Amino acid sequence: MNNTDPMVHEAEHWTAHNYHPLPVVIAEAEGAWVTDVDGRRYLDCLAGYSALNFGHRHPALLEAARAQLERVTLTSRAFLHDQFGPFCRELAQLCRTDLVLPMNTGAEAVETAIKVARKWGYRVKGVPAEQASIVVAADNFHGRTVTIVSFSTDPSAKEDFGPYTPGFRIVGYGDLDAMRAAIDDTTVAVLIEPIQGEAGVIVPPAGYLTGVRALCTDNDVLMLADEIQSGLGRTGDTFACDHENVVPDMYILGKALGGGIVPVSAVAARSEILGVLRPGEHGSTFGGNPLACAVGRAVVSLLQTGEFQHRAKDMGALLHKHLGELVGHGLTDVRGRGLWAGIDIDPARMTGREACERLMAPAPDGRSVSSRAGVLAKDTHGSTLRLAPPLVITADEVDFAVERLASVLA
Ligand SMILES: Cc1ncc(COP(=O)(O)O)c(C=O)c1O
Repeated sequence: MNNTDPMVHEAEHWTAHNYHPLPVVIAEAEGAWVTDVDGRRYLDCLAGYSALNFGHRHPALLEAARAQLERVTLTSRAFLHDQFGPFCRELAQLCRTDLVLPMNTGAEAVETAIKVARKWGYRVKGVPAEQASIVVAADNFHGRTVTIVSFSTDPSAKEDFGPYTPGFRIVGYGDLDAMRAAIDDTTVAVLIEPIQGEAGVIVPPAGYLTGVRALCTDNDVLMLADEIQSGLGRTGDTFACDHENVVPDMYILGKALGGGIVPVSAVAARSEILGVLRPGEHGSTFGGNPLACAVGRAVVSLLQTGEFQHRAKDMGALLHKHLGELVGHGLTDVRGRGLWAGIDIDPARMTGREACERLMAPAPDGRSVSSRAGVLAKDTHGSTLRLAPPLVITADEVDFAVERLASVLA
């Protein structure tokens, strides 16, 4: 009897089935690697959907968390604490903007962005009360709240959860003409992912972000960039918008901001935008708590070195070079930027889920990097796999992941 099966069974029995996890039960992790309850090792090529950009248990992040645990962990926003101001300042400086509002999950940060944009629209732009509209992209993923799923185009995210929040207009991702047509005097914001993650790592056509920026500027509309998954080093730049030198009016951040230790999200914007909020209008008990801010500060200081952005660029180039060689050999398409790839498995060969299950199996050879390890990845939309390893992954480990993929597809 192994340790895994009863634990899988227990979780299935006692948990709502809102996920379909791979049958692996993780007990320990370090860097790009995890170990399961039966001692099997896996290269983590999902990295908590980019929440683990710095790898599991990065020493500087653990140290920041440990030191803070010894001092104070929660105050609520009723009081200030000594990590709050520094975190907001350091993150605002990283975003080259004025103000930061910390929250916890990504969805909360998106909700914050929507509320701020609406209030800005009424108080600054002069949109008539209750008329604000926000333009979003088809196939978006911005989280799971009722308001956010109201403008999802994915039936499984949306169906049976109505009535929905009005005020959103959906246009094709990458389609600037449709966006132009959807913008009118009631439009307060455009909300987009600079690269669509959950949709399958969809990179928009070159010039799209620049075009969105121009449309927003010309029409007095806020550009809200959801960089929750694409930001903080993943694509080889601090933000995916940097790739086109575009500065949005608001960054929406999450995932890696918590260093894989605690949930930390935030929005960052200029004071004429984020400054519209007054006491009592928005908040969160845990948002900006001392532990979150201490870890967030350590994350910002890792990003300030530029090392992780460089690693994402270099290792990403290697990953994409190898993956490109598999197109026509089991893959039908590869997309992405930096250490982020969406790969389409030839559906005639197997589903994405089957590919993930086979990747988990231990590698047959005894190479030093692999020594009978598996690879963890996650499927989406039938035949697509997302690969987003921690940015600490080495060239040998990238080679190993792609070799395993090639042998699974063979
Ligand atoms: C682009 C984007 N926005 C928002 C979210 C929601 O974040 P959370 O799951 O922390 O609420 C996600 C999560 O995958 C995401 O990828």
